[in-house]
Amino acid sequence: MNRTSVSSPANIALIKYWGMRDAQNTLPNNASLSMTLSRCVSICTLAPLPGGSADEFLWKNRHGELVPADPTLRAGIEHHLPALREHFDYWQPLRIATTNTFPTGAGIASSAAGFSALAAAFVVHCGQSLSYPALSDLARLSGSGSAARSVSGGFVQWPGNAQQLSGPALQIAPAQHWPLHDLIAVVDARHKTVSSRQGHLLANSSEFYPTRLKLLPERLEQARRAILERDFTRLADAVEREAIELHLIAMTSQPPIFYWKPATLAILERVRQLRSEGMDVCATIDAGPNVHVLCTAQHGPKVFSALRKLPDIQHWIFDQIGDGPKRLEQHLF
Ligand code: PMV
Repeated sequence: MNRTSVSSPANIALIKYWGMRDAQNTLPNNASLSMTLSRCVSICTLAPLPGGSADEFLWKNRHGELVPADPTLRAGIEHHLPALREHFDYWQPLRIATTNTFPTGAGIASSAAGFSALAAAFVVHCGQSLSYPALSDLARLSGSGSAARSVSGGFVQWPGNAQQLSGPALQIAPAQHWPLHDLIAVVDARHKTVSSRQGHLLANSSEFYPTRLKLLPERLEQARRAILERDFTRLADAVEREAIELHLIAMTSQPPIFYWKPATLAILERVRQLRSEGMDVCATIDAGPNVHVLCTAQHGPKVFSALRKLPDIQHWIFDQIGDGPKRLEQHLF
């Protein structure tokens, strides 16, 4: 069987995209900036099904069993696949299996990892390398804009042209430039009830959305320069302001979306306190209740020993900045 496997990382947006100017083509209203992760990855294996008449979608569960993909995953792949097929003019039925190394749909960018893995596996299967220039756009056509950023490692901006809001993702610095850590406090590992897609579509209904869009170029520039200059204090300021602004939009959308849990807020408060005590630490929250605690490698152990005492954290994922998709020699089937 001619199998192709890749792993592709999740990413955590430091400046997030929220709201689209073209929902059909997943074109955002603002440029975003993320840090690619290294331990939270999706793995995708695909292979042609000789003589098969339809695609087959599988999921490798945490017991290591290959089971039929659930309806949400299946629908996501079925939405993405036609764009990939059309791009390469490739129509043979496929068996596609995926798995994640982290909780799915809980605000840890499982769609970014999953769809960038699918696009990357398809590109490699069609004889191209992982540096294929269109990979970012092919990942975006899944409907998950954040997938466009996962095709690159380090710190990544999407769209690459922030003024025109166009073009594929662009790496602004590789992972080695600043090896930041991401301690992910999992407050609730369940699948979130309001998807990011629904959140994007509701963004316009918040009266505060135009103000957010007005502030974002300044936030992006502050974060970008802070990264280039490895200035943690300036990065922390941009990251936390932006995260709170995003959730303000979610909470003031009609109907409102409340992603936070009491433990989310408790972590945010403690992180601010630790920063005022001189630690390089800040926090951001994706479309979910879980908190990404970003810190320098040097301050990681102290930050964790302070935060682990907080109640209502189910578990921690210790991640750090990493590289983009990789081809694998081991397959899921
Ligand atoms: O890529 P999507 O459609 O799942 O949306 C991602 C939205 C956020 O994670 C909240 C922000 C971002 O830029 O990653």
